[in-house]
Amino acid sequence: MRITVDLAGRSYDVVLGDGARRQLAALISQRAPRARAAAIVTSPSLARQPWFDLETGLVQHVLEVPEGESAKTLTVLDSLCERLSELGLSRSDVVVGVGGGATTDLAGFAAAVYLRGVALVQVPTSLVGQVDAAIGGKTAVNLRSGKNLVGSFHQPLGVLCDFETLETLSERERLGGLGEVAKCWLLEGRRAGQLTNESTGDLVEMSVRLKARVVSGDEFEGGERALLNYGHTLAHALEILSLKRGTDDLRHGEAVAIGLAFAVRLAHALGRVGADDIVNHDEVLKALGLSGWLPEEFEVDELIRAMGHDKKANHDLTFVLNGADGFEVVRAVDPSVVADALASFRGEQ
Ligand SMILES: NC(=O)c1ccc[n+]([C@@H]2O[C@H](COP(=O)([O-])OP(=O)(O)OC[C@H]3O[C@@H](n4cnc5c(N)ncnc54)[C@H](O)[C@@H]3O)[C@@H](O)[C@H]2O)c1
Repeated sequence: MRITVDLAGRSYDVVLGDGARRQLAALISQRAPRARAAAIVTSPSLARQPWFDLETGLVQHVLEVPEGESAKTLTVLDSLCERLSELGLSRSDVVVGVGGGATTDLAGFAAAVYLRGVALVQVPTSLVGQVDAAIGGKTAVNLRSGKNLVGSFHQPLGVLCDFETLETLSERERLGGLGEVAKCWLLEGRRAGQLTNESTGDLVEMSVRLKARVVSGDEFEGGERALLNYGHTLAHALEILSLKRGTDDLRHGEAVAIGLAFAVRLAHALGRVGADDIVNHDEVLKALGLSGWLPEEFEVDELIRAMGHDKKANHDLTFVLNGADGFEVVRAVDPSVVADALASFRGEQ
């Protein structure tokens, strides 16, 4: 199955299915015919997985970076670029990101800035990576003050979403990934009752179709692409606060699930949607095995402050909210309404 991200001269396909990783060499020879070497960027635990049998058809180097989110720093980017340079990777060669969203974000950013940009192929292996992170060209690393604050748009030549790689995901990571799937399901206006016998592959396909369509129409997030941040205002605040506390035990998709449950309650508090929309959100989350509960350790005040610092907030409290005209970005939401909605959301639990 192929889904095209349509960006004129920079269009590319997302290939989905069992064994999609085996198309890597063919993809590179088609899209980067002058490449002689490939740098596969991955983490040590992923390089030991049974599916890590990638063939680029070129001289290939496997460069291991720290596991998960700890790879997304300027320090790791620095040493990765040094290694690319030591290996003599040239402007016509290719970087291949293999891993979850953190690894593909780092690999993508290295490909964007090394030699002012080299070719990139993404092989996302987590659910978050396949339905979201590896598609659309956003790449970034974190600063101590926040996530994804240094980055770039750099579209890949192709994305290979191999469902076989998902088989080694832990239950927690799989569930976490379903948070982004729930977001896509809700953005598509679907009801909980329509979630019947979908396989993971069906859910990935639905999410990739949405992302590809939105990115094709709005590559640089001037409009509709911002709607993909549904649930993310609170999610990012929760992630930043847990990172700062050094606990970092909240998965991105878990935070998104909480953010979705809150966004619909806020929309209801603002008179934008009926109570039935809250019920539908809760049922979609439940059907996917997600809880969407706000962890007790976060205070309302600190959440409001963190949401105001979100890089997309433009100094106001900004949310993607549903309403009579569908989903839209709503700026400058009254902090007292947000605080009340957060307090009553917590009170429900
Ligand atoms: N660029 C974008 O548009 C975009 C969109 C959404 C999220 N993101 C970023 O993605 C990251 C979250 O992605 P994530 O949830 O994949 O996190 P992650 O990359 O940290 O991966 C989570 C864990 O799963 C492991 N893992 C990955 N694939 C595996 C597999 N097949 N088998 C066993 N273990 C596997 C990883 O090693 C890691 O320990 C965040 O940094 C977020 O900012 C980026």
